[in-house]
Amino acid sequence: MLKGKKIVLGITGSIAAYKACYIIRGLVKQGAEVQVVITPAGKEFITPITLSALTSKPVISEFFAQRDGTWNSHVDLGLWADAMLIAPATASTIGKMAHGIADNMLITTYLSAKAPVFVAPAMDLDMYAHPATQENLATLARRGNIIIEPGTGELASHLVGKGRMEEPENIIRRLDDFFAADSSMQGRKVMITAGPTYERIDPVRFIGNYSSGKMGFALAEECARRGAEVTLIAGPVQQKAHHPTIRRIDVESAQEMYEAATTHFVESDAAILCAAVADFRPETIADKKIKRGADDLMLRLQPTQDIAAKLGSMKRERQLLVGFALENENEWQNATRKLERKSLDFIVLNSLNDAGAGFRYDTNKISIIDREGSTDYPLKSKAEVAADIIDRLAQELKR
Ligand code: C5P
Repeated sequence: MLKGKKIVLGITGSIAAYKACYIIRGLVKQGAEVQVVITPAGKEFITPITLSALTSKPVISEFFAQRDGTWNSHVDLGLWADAMLIAPATASTIGKMAHGIADNMLITTYLSAKAPVFVAPAMDLDMYAHPATQENLATLARRGNIIIEPGTGELASHLVGKGRMEEPENIIRRLDDFFAADSSMQGRKVMITAGPTYERIDPVRFIGNYSSGKMGFALAEECARRGAEVTLIAGPVQQKAHHPTIRRIDVESAQEMYEAATTHFVESDAAILCAAVADFRPETIADKKIKRGADDLMLRLQPTQDIAAKLGSMKRERQLLVGFALENENEWQNATRKLERKSLDFIVLNSLNDAGAGFRYDTNKISIIDREGSTDYPLKSKAEVAADIIDRLAQELKR
């Protein structure tokens, strides 16, 4: 969606300025044209030579181009842009934007911009949390600027908190979403399960699995981007849902996921069951931490409820149910058996035997199997795989 789009990238004086290089790389790779406008402080963190090499354009910083004295028109630049992105945005730049303090090329361009403006703050946790910054951000949001919230983690100061600029790939995705305007899932209600479940053994231990939730979250983003109302039932994962319309319900155990899924399926047009739900849970949960002993420890496990099979039996006409199968032998046979047993409309098969597919990876290689046959797809990023799956779902929902 970014192909041919003209993006003005404003860079300010933050240590996260180096990440702007990754943003430029990503945008250019997708066919966008990027013009950098950098503040004087920004140049202390990253050299314009690097930036102009990446964008294949001179970097703009001064009102007058130093070499020949020609005037850099912020008005023209503001009109040229299809979108303006300020990443990283410091507390100082955010303050100037909110108050119209036009003392550099970046702010004058911002004030002239007719296109949507995205702001990705980056600063230390206390600066970010300060009421001055928060009020300035609220002012910008109220005026229609799109704030790309920073993440939480270790900061350049080595303190841990909120203020890390959002990762370049997510910033690019936000821009991409903005230009996409695909409405193929408009008005549809989709429920998605994602991630692992944890089955408690005692107050500190559980049985779990390596599912990261990446595939389920990518599906949720893709549905939301296309206008669906998404309910995302997530097991314990590190993922963040970015799209503002995703309703996220956090659960821990298979039983909790079962309860949430059976409740929300009723109101859904489709459900995608991407979670790696535990098949067994300890029969009893010890209320005190189990102590080490000389003897073997026996844990008796009992089966959990099969959410997919339950939803399959609840399914009304015109409701669609999509399952996942992660297999390492007799892939096709096992997947088709699950399709039948759980009354799924189609099943997404990923094989543990394919390099780069399955748990924890950022890529996946799938086949979509229904009662008519199967379609194989090449290895792709999980975001692209999500788009393939949702293309298919949108098509089925139209029937
Ligand atoms: O049988 P298996 O666990 O391999 O089936 C995979 C499919 O069933 C996935 O879509 C998964 O989310 C779903 N499932 C479920 N509840 C379970 C076990 C699996 O919904 N208890």
